[in-house]
Amino acid sequence: MSEKKKLFNTKVIHSGHKENLETGAVMPPIHLSSTFKQKSPGNFKYEYSRTNNPTREILEKLLAEIEEGKFAFAFSSGMAAINCLTDAMEKNFHVICSDDVYGGTRRIFDKVKSVNQNIEVTYTDFKNEDNWPGLIKNNTKMIWLETPSNPLLKIVDINKIKSEISNEDIKIVCDNTFASPYNQQPLTLGSDVVLHSSTKYLGGHSDLIGGAIIIKDDIKLTEKIKYLQNAIGSVPSPFDCYLLIRSIKTLAVRMERHNTNAMIISEYLSNHPKIKTVRYPGLKSDPNYEVAKNQMNGFGGIISIELDTDLKGTLKFLENIEIFTLAESLGGVESLIEHPAIMTHASIDKNIRDELGITDSLVRLSIGIEESDDLKTALENALYLI
Ligand SMILES: Cc1ncc(COP(=O)(O)O)c(C=O)c1O
Repeated sequence: MSEKKKLFNTKVIHSGHKENLETGAVMPPIHLSSTFKQKSPGNFKYEYSRTNNPTREILEKLLAEIEEGKFAFAFSSGMAAINCLTDAMEKNFHVICSDDVYGGTRRIFDKVKSVNQNIEVTYTDFKNEDNWPGLIKNNTKMIWLETPSNPLLKIVDINKIKSEISNEDIKIVCDNTFASPYNQQPLTLGSDVVLHSSTKYLGGHSDLIGGAIIIKDDIKLTEKIKYLQNAIGSVPSPFDCYLLIRSIKTLAVRMERHNTNAMIISEYLSNHPKIKTVRYPGLKSDPNYEVAKNQMNGFGGIISIELDTDLKGTLKFLENIEIFTLAESLGGVESLIEHPAIMTHASIDKNIRDELGITDSLVRLSIGIEESDDLKTALENALYLI
């Protein structure tokens, strides 16, 4: 019989579990039990649900397979996953981080980890290769990439960073939240670790908070993460694990539609007189297009735009738009819209936001899977008001 590896669209549906042998149930049960009977002290398959839980185990196997990793760990949020991964590097180390990252990532590095763990962070625009020389220090242990980045959608060439900046003592971590494993698999591109806010595309329905770490093959790091996952205890509930297993089954079809809709909307916005800039890596005119085309299977569902107006006009646009919900987060089936400077990136100092280009007229759209014509009409009507 052929041993051909299953392809992505099949893996999202079948990896991690088979039908239940006893009942024939097609979907895995939600194991709510917090504790498990032992045959004799210390003789057990499962002990206590913080340490391990059968429903979480299914999710973790599934996450490892769809990201092409060997090991995966689920967490109660993306931030809990970032916290655990940074803890696993111990103390007094240096991390080089993409300058454009989720505001909470900067917050935990600058305000929590630099205080508690004495970590030192260099933020850099990896896209500018003139910045590369001198980045590595003796104590550099981590390169933290977010590609596509939040909110400016910069794409960095993971493979090139691995071969031209990194070395074997450094872990390359890629926050793959924006792309999802459907569009990009960083472990096949040179990354050692993938991180997710599974709250976003993996969950896909804006009804859970979750995080994940997927490790290519580093056993030592895997053992540390396993230890810390239990010791710190920020694990997802069995119900949230189930929701994620269920959601991931439709990841491929959802992402296909997110990609298509975002392409249509980005083209529409590019030709609109009230828009100064459209940032979408799928547009041929976007400076990230070539790298994105080579390393991604699709360009994703997030678009950032700069409106040709001031803060007042931008707020008017956001307050009046229909269909798009004004809310933090992204990656759900419904379209969301937000103002990074006031919302998701408010924890970043204003001078840094200005330097990066997170201006008062920057708006981030998470394009859902609705009818694209309806999304265009909603945008057209709101743009008319400014
Ligand atoms: C790229 C990225 N990474 C990490 C996080 C943090 O994840 P969570 O909100 O699930 O803690 C977010 C949240 O928006 C994010 O956008």
